[in-house]
Amino acid sequence: MSNRIETDKKGIQFHYDLPPEFFHYFLDPGMNYSCCYFQNKNDPLEKAAKNKLALICKKLNISKDDYVLDIGCGWGNFTLFAAENFGCHVTGITLSPSQANYVKNKASGEGLSHLINTTVMHAYKMDFGPQKFDKIVTIGAIEHIADLRKMFAKCFDVLKDNGLMLVHGMSIPWRNRKEQLEGKFSESMQFLREHIFPVGQMITLNEVLKAMEENNFEIIDVENITDHYTLTLRCWLNNLQKNKKEIEEKKIVEPLKLRAQLLFLMGCVEAFKDGNVYCYHTLARKIPKENREQLPLTREGYCLYPEPDRKI
Ligand SMILES: C[S@@+](CC[C@H](N)C(=O)[O-])C[C@H]1O[C@@H](n2cnc3c(N)ncnc32)[C@H](O)[C@@H]1O
Repeated sequence: MSNRIETDKKGIQFHYDLPPEFFHYFLDPGMNYSCCYFQNKNDPLEKAAKNKLALICKKLNISKDDYVLDIGCGWGNFTLFAAENFGCHVTGITLSPSQANYVKNKASGEGLSHLINTTVMHAYKMDFGPQKFDKIVTIGAIEHIADLRKMFAKCFDVLKDNGLMLVHGMSIPWRNRKEQLEGKFSESMQFLREHIFPVGQMITLNEVLKAMEENNFEIIDVENITDHYTLTLRCWLNNLQKNKKEIEEKKIVEPLKLRAQLLFLMGCVEAFKDGNVYCYHTLARKIPKENREQLPLTREGYCLYPEPDRKI
């Protein structure tokens, strides 16, 4: 177990401990390193990024009194957004010390330190003492977590009764998963392992849901957001191509890293466009028997529809 955790840490730090400036060159200003949500195909990336965060807050029905856990908080996109817009308390965990520092500094700069707690912690080892959460979110992290059953067991444990959990993550179609299970790794997978993400693998949506259900989560809603990822990736790729020269001149990362990232983004655009990778929002709940009859009857009741001109 501790070997696994050390391997995961090293693998995650290999990519996410690269200088944050590098990621600033292609992500939106809020540093969302996950699929954004477009109302229109031509929406600017920044708008789509905020829209995604607002939609997740809506699905989770976030309110001021909530204690929220953000598993795989990255550079704090969701953590900061939820605390700033709702005044709730958010705990973010990541395996990257560089990201944890980044979030701490940003929270302090924005006067949000009293609401935000960021820790370097493995999802298998989540331990917050007696503290439990009203809401849990994990955005773009399940792809790095080999044993989702283990993670969801911890999630169920730290979620309060009547709590909600939203999983935003990528999956692959069964045809690709079958090849993976047969030990056939494509060249693109090998490239990914060597140059971008040494740890993690994608599984089917079916397996993600099974891992949740095996831990007593009740699935409420699943939304396919795959096409939004194609649009997001195109924006990232354009930004990186546009800024390539400046990154090279300022030596932000080694030339090989920059080339690998460009290739990675190009490959991802194609993979999503061709339906070789999907992305989903899955909303689930932990609910004791005696509260079941109080549940909303419709999808509107769960605030599952995006509104085009929401204030936040
Ligand atoms: C693609 S980034 C997504 C970050 C952020 N949620 C976002 O939407 O921009 C993946 C995040 O998952 C974190 N992560 C990966 N494996 C993890 C693990 N086993 N435990 C905790 N965090 C993990 C990484 O450190 C990183 O912050």
